[in-house]
Amino acid sequence: MPTKIILDCDPGHDDAVAMLLAWGSPAIELVGVTTVVGNQTIDKVTRNALSVARVAGIVGVPFARGSARPLVREIETAGEIHGESGLDGPVLPEPTIALDPRPAAQFIVDTIMATEPGEITLVPTGGLTNIALAARLEPRIIPRVREVVLMGGGVHEGNWSAVAEFNIVIDPEAAAIVFGAGWPLTMIGLDVTHQAIATPSVKAAIAAVGTKPAAFVGELMEFFEKAYHDAQGFPHPPVHDPVAVAYVIDPTLVRTVRAPLAVETRGEHTLGMTVADLRGPAPDSCVTQVAFDLDAARFWALVVHALERIGDPAQ
Ligand code: BDR
Ligand code: CA
Repeated sequence: MPTKIILDCDPGHDDAVAMLLAWGSPAIELVGVTTVVGNQTIDKVTRNALSVARVAGIVGVPFARGSARPLVREIETAGEIHGESGLDGPVLPEPTIALDPRPAAQFIVDTIMATEPGEITLVPTGGLTNIALAARLEPRIIPRVREVVLMGGGVHEGNWSAVAEFNIVIDPEAAAIVFGAGWPLTMIGLDVTHQAIATPSVKAAIAAVGTKPAAFVGELMEFFEKAYHDAQGFPHPPVHDPVAVAYVIDPTLVRTVRAPLAVETRGEHTLGMTVADLRGPAPDSCVTQVAFDLDAARFWALVVHALERIGDPAQ
């Protein structure tokens, strides 16, 4: 039985790859895509999500627009990494599917309450605003969620500050709610996603798929590589978000360690840091875990396989 997921994202080059992996994997049933302010404004990332849906031929999946701003703080976007549109590089086709009328948080609540307990896995790959709002709107979703598998954070490693990762630091109050909610939570942080590098051989394997969606990913990676090089000095870009989807497909791709996780919401130098307590065996009550050591070859094989399955959808 495929795992049912809601992908909550802010496309975003790596979010787009996460969407393609989720749609193309036989192990995943994509029951919804929700958008959240992050890499760009909510208007831009929502349009991007719908454009990617068209490229991938995603049909029969509701798309819901989410929060336009973080819970408490001002909007912070990542134009230097994802460009003015949030998805610079390829030509983005006009969307053809209509948005679900509900706000993302309501869509998330309705979907979880309408399915059996333990059926839905939430996969956030952006700031955690929508997920926190959904948990506040209807706390009965918390014990019904199978697991939250999020891309964000890192064990004392950062990319937006010395110790904070972008998805956490743009809405630390939302992240604190989500990390502390009590549902099983796996943090796919920079410790693993900085190992998901789109190397020249990875790009060649994607190009060899020979389809329009694969060429689209190639164009995304071209822009992403230059941006990551210029902004953060990476020779080739880390493709963070599909690692969270890949973990749902195959949890053996990483090593996980159960550990209490907290989000810093007040630190002068540490705002948005994810604090992992790795001092010893986690208490029985601990429901959070953190991932290390990605098997990058198997991860990229999943991405290539998903692109092969997607093929060349009719436009
Ligand atoms: C995360 O930040 C965003 O820019 C990416 O899409 C990814 O979700 C990496 O820190
Ligand atoms: Ca993202």
